[in-house]
This record gives sequence, structure tokens and C-alpha cells, in this order.
Amino acid sequence: MTEITRDVVIVGAGAAGLTAANELKKAGLSVAVLEARDRVGGRLWTDTIEGAMLEIGGQWISPDQTALIETVADLGLDTFSRYREGDSVYVGPEGTAHRFTGEMFPVSPETEAVIARLTERLDAMVAEIDPDRPWAHEKAAEWDSVSWDAWLRAQTDDDEAVRNLAFATGSAMLTKPTHAISLLESLLMAASAGSYSNLVDADFILDKRVVGGLQQVPLLLAERLGEDVFLNQPVRTLEWSDEGVTAVADGMTVRARQAILALAPVLYSRISFVPALPRLQHQMHQHLSMGFVIKVHAVYETPFWREKGLSGTAFSPYELSHEAYDNSNHGEERGTLVGFVSDLNADGVFELSADERKQRILTSLSHYYGPEALDPVVYYESDWGSEEWTRGAYAASFDLGGLSRYGKHLRSAVGPIHFACSDLAGAGYQHVDGAIRMGRLVAAQIVDEVRA
Ligand code: FDA
Repeated sequence: MTEITRDVVIVGAGAAGLTAANELKKAGLSVAVLEARDRVGGRLWTDTIEGAMLEIGGQWISPDQTALIETVADLGLDTFSRYREGDSVYVGPEGTAHRFTGEMFPVSPETEAVIARLTERLDAMVAEIDPDRPWAHEKAAEWDSVSWDAWLRAQTDDDEAVRNLAFATGSAMLTKPTHAISLLESLLMAASAGSYSNLVDADFILDKRVVGGLQQVPLLLAERLGEDVFLNQPVRTLEWSDEGVTAVADGMTVRARQAILALAPVLYSRISFVPALPRLQHQMHQHLSMGFVIKVHAVYETPFWREKGLSGTAFSPYELSHEAYDNSNHGEERGTLVGFVSDLNADGVFELSADERKQRILTSLSHYYGPEALDPVVYYESDWGSEEWTRGAYAASFDLGGLSRYGKHLRSAVGPIHFACSDLAGAGYQHVDGAIRMGRLVAAQIVDEVRA
């Protein structure tokens, strides 16, 4: 068992932990990053499957994600835009695929009017929310006590309008059933992207990708840390007192003045804290849970949809894959589609055999793109629910009432233990940008404490 001593021990080599470690090192502090897996990046993972480079985890960057954009530029990485020439596809309640261009998808004039009215209302509500302090809004408790679905249904009895408005923050973002998330959580999700309108605008929210894959961000951040990153080191025990911390992993022990827990909050309870964490953290952490979505990758010899004048952008709250996009890699001749199967739909298809699941998902894609979608040369499902050190996708959020009840305590340190993760962020909430912001914030707090 190796024993080392550092100023700060960081648990988790995702974007948050590696950002914090780099910031601390720049400020002259010594660090050790302990990572449970045999790779860095956490929910960022670019891998080659049967010859196809796939973004198994996070990949897109939106123009407001300035912390991530700065990091990508600082690391010397290039970006490219998602393919978006041609028509998008919307599948309506009757199961017919409709092609369209522009922002509004084809629904009846009545449904369009309801969607426009509620979008305006939601934008106004979101404008009142500070994403870093959603609990501070005067109606926070009220908005946190009603489910997103119930609130929408109280505004209109137009089912198609409700389903389309709901899935933007539900299946597509928080990846939980819309009856299981509060209106306040939905508003936070939208506020973290600047507005509800931004969130539903695929050209905004799914704007750019990194050439060669987004996992290069953590890989290059780890490279800068050199031998301060230790893989295959799940931290099992964290002893703490006013004097400092001792992190005990499988193969090593790190003594430090401070610790940063840079992991998904659902995993805090995997660590034995000695002494136990206070009552507030015990309670609060139980009210956070991971969403669940399967990211489906289908690679074809050519991007056949482009020849049909389709952009690849497709969605429907009635489809198993509620959204899908052209996800072809930069400069590649082959075409890749990415689809998403979320929450209750994901539960349902995991009850099927792998072959049946693949068939059902590809059939859903074929409703958008035609029968050619049924025969990819490479097919892969990112299943983060099975990953021991993540346990879901994309991220963790509070249950009904949890955000207003506990939110303000989420980022508070406990003695020498600090918390940093995308799932605790305001701006960039549940995104890589938020992970970087949290890493920077916690590092700055520690530097201030050390210098005080
Ligand atoms: P993250 O979970 O990445 O890192 C935590 C690290 O801690 C992991 O490496 C884990 O192994 C480690 N760990 C856990 N327990 C430990 C222990 N006890 N000891 C040691 N190590 C431990 N975002 C975005 O901006 N654009 C996008 O397009 C997407 N898309 C997307 C798709 C999919 C499928 C997923 C799963 C996620 C996304 N996201 C995304 C979200 C984004 O990937 C995510 O918010 C950040 O990568 C999270 O970074 P963190 O560092 O906060 O946690």
C-alpha cells in the first residue's frame, strides 16, 4: 500500500476533478487525483467500436458554455458544427413523418398557438430564475411542489402541445418521467441554458463537437497533471477532521489538508466517511437520483439521409427514440446517426432481448429516416446505467421538492471536504461546462482558504 501526502486529494478524474486539480496546481498546491476507473473522463468517453469512433458519453457544446469553450481553446482542440442542412422531421401523434424547416414543427394552428403562448410564459419564468440559486426565487417552494407534467396539463388540455413542451426538459434533458420532476427543476434546466427557447433549439444546444472527441478534454487535462493522476483507485474510506483528510483507495492512501469529491452525488454513499457526514448531507444526498437514457449509435456506409435532403434532426414525443441527429464524425465518409431512448422507454426496452431491443430502436429511427436506417454497419448502445461508477445518464437531479428544500446546501463544504460535479452546477447544470465551473469554483475556494 503506497502512502503519499499532498495539499489536496481529488476523488474522481472527470471534467470537474481534473479542472480543480489543474487550477490548484497552477496556484502552487500539490494534488493527487484518485480515479476508480482504468481511464480518465468519467462521463466523457470517446471510444472506437468495431472501427467506428463513437462519443459514448457527452459530446455537444453550446455557445453559452463559455467555461468549456475556454477550456477547449486552451487545450488547442478544434471544433466543428453538427450537420444541419436540409429538412428536419417531426413524427406526429398519428405516426406520420412530417418534414419541416425553421423553428416551428408542423402541428395544427391551435396547437402551435398553445406552444407559442406557453413558451413565452416559460421564458418569462425562466428569466426570473438565477440558475446558481433557483431556490432563492419567491415561488421556489410552490414551483418545486408541482410536477412538470401536472403544471403543463393545468395550462392546457392540448395533449400534443404538452408532450412537446414537456420532453425538452424531461426525456431530453433530465431524462426522468415528467411526472417525477418538478416545475422548478425544469425551470433550472432551462435557466442553465439561458432560456427555455434556447433549450428547445437544437441548433443552439447541440451546436459544436470537438474534432477527435470530447474525451480529449479530460485526457489533456490529465496529461498536464502527469503522475498526479492515479487510475484504478476507487476511494473506499475518507477519514476527516479539522486537521485534514486521509483517503484510502484500493492500492494507496493519500493524506491531505483538503479533499474534493468530484463524483456524481449518487456515489457519495459508496465511500465510508469517518466520522460519518452530518445529518444534512445524509438526508440531502438521498433526494438526488440519476436520470436514465440510452444513447444509441448507428453507423452507415454513407449519410443516406443527406441525399434525401434531410438534416438528420428528428424528434417526436410519440417515438421510442424521442430525438435523433446526424452525428457523423468530422471528415468521415460514413454517416452516423445518434438516437436517444429515455426513462420509461429505456426501462421498457431493457426488458427485451438485445436483438429485440436493437430492432425496436432501429425501427423507431426508420420512422424518421426511412427503411435504410434498419441496417447500420455498426450499432452500439451507451448504457451508463450499468456503469458502476456512474449509474445512469446524463446526471443527477432532485426528486419533487428536493431542490427548494436542500439546493442551497448542495455546494457547501463539510470541514475539509468540498464537492464539485456537473450535477451540482447552476450555469452548465448537468453538462461538461457545469463540471468545469464547479471545478474552478471549488479550487478557488480552497486557494482562498489556504491563503487566508
Ligand atoms: P463524472 O461522472 O464525469 O466524473 C466523476 C469521476 O469520479 C468518474 O471518472 C468516476 O469514475 C469517478 N469516481 C466515482 N466514484 C469514485 C470513487 N469512489 N473513487 C474514485 N473515483 C470515483 N454534457 C454536455 O455538456 N454535452 C453533451 O452532449 C452531453 N451528453 C451526454 C451524454 C451521455 C450519454 C452522458 C452520460 C452524459 C452527457 N453529458 C453531456 C453530461 C456530461 O458528460 C457530464 O455532465 C460531465 O461529464 C460530468 O463531469 P463530472 O466531472 O462532474 O462527473
